[in-house]
Amino acid sequence: MPSINEDVSIGNLGSLQTLPDSFTWKLTAADSILPPSSAAVKESIPVIDLSDPDVTNLLGNACKTWGAFQIANHGVSQSLLDDVESLSKTFFDMPSERKLEAASSNKGVSGYGEPRISLFFEKKMWSEGLTIADGSYRNQFLTIWPRDYTKYCGIIEEYKGEMEKLASRLLSCILGSLGVTVDDIEWAKKTEKSESKMGQSVIRLNHYPVCPEPERAMGLAAHTDSCLLTILHQSNMGGLQVFKEESGWVTVEPIPGVLVVNIGDLFHILSNGKFPSVVHRARVNRTKSRISIAYLWGGPAGEVEISPISKIVGPVGPCLYRPVTWSEYLRIKFEVFDKALDAIRVVNATN
Ligand code: OGA
Ligand code: NI
Repeated sequence: MPSINEDVSIGNLGSLQTLPDSFTWKLTAADSILPPSSAAVKESIPVIDLSDPDVTNLLGNACKTWGAFQIANHGVSQSLLDDVESLSKTFFDMPSERKLEAASSNKGVSGYGEPRISLFFEKKMWSEGLTIADGSYRNQFLTIWPRDYTKYCGIIEEYKGEMEKLASRLLSCILGSLGVTVDDIEWAKKTEKSESKMGQSVIRLNHYPVCPEPERAMGLAAHTDSCLLTILHQSNMGGLQVFKEESGWVTVEPIPGVLVVNIGDLFHILSNGKFPSVVHRARVNRTKSRISIAYLWGGPAGEVEISPISKIVGPVGPCLYRPVTWSEYLRIKFEVFDKALDAIRVVNATN
């Protein structure tokens, strides 16, 4: 048997016939990709029709119990979803060297590479991604698609615009379920003097190639998103799983045209812990590669401090988290990863 070259390029994972040791995870029975026999029919996150008259309650309940849900009738056209998906395919189908020309530098978040959370895990993940951050992606697109640059920038801009609109609509509705409005968030409200300092956004294109041993591989390891909320479009291949205390890992089956939404750390803070920042991950499979497009709606720029919404905390509290700026929170996250929320918590969990 030929020895396996451990220096595997993530741009070629789909062509490997065996799983290299550096990609082999020690997974327990609870991590199984098959549902345990005792729970043949597993529950899943709710699918919510945004045109339902009871949408506020439905969203509120989903945020409290799951921190995640799927949405139908969201107003984003199927053709736009198809366009971003095919843009992603066009990129990931390129030879590894071409993709590496768009590699992210140490400084920026933008660009091609392995998942950013890789540094917290010993084993490598079976995926590659392209991160598209406000501002810097145009130059990258020019390198990647010198001829189709304008077309692909147009698709991303349109997608970003639609996602922003949808995210704002969801935010208003979800806040409504807690009896507050966007105006109760100091930095998010628009005033006569200033525009809203609403979140900076990032789009991440993820590709999970076919895998010779999916049972022992991990597409994207368990994490929470740091942002306010994430809107995810997944191609028609499942892989996303959310973690729920009583149920374990629950697969989010793709439904054509339906988008997945999850609460991030920032919303968890704003809600004073009422909404869980859901732990999720992506598994891979043997037969079909998978693409997902994540729109991560982040926090405000600059010195703006984020803290639980005072109306939600109420006059007697307790207020669970201290104020942090978005950049400070991201710094903490990239030091302590899954302990970041604990690090800014002022009242301990048992109080
Ligand atoms: C992410 C993420 C899940 C998926 O990009 O943060 O969780 O299914 N993606 O690709
Ligand atoms: Ni995520």
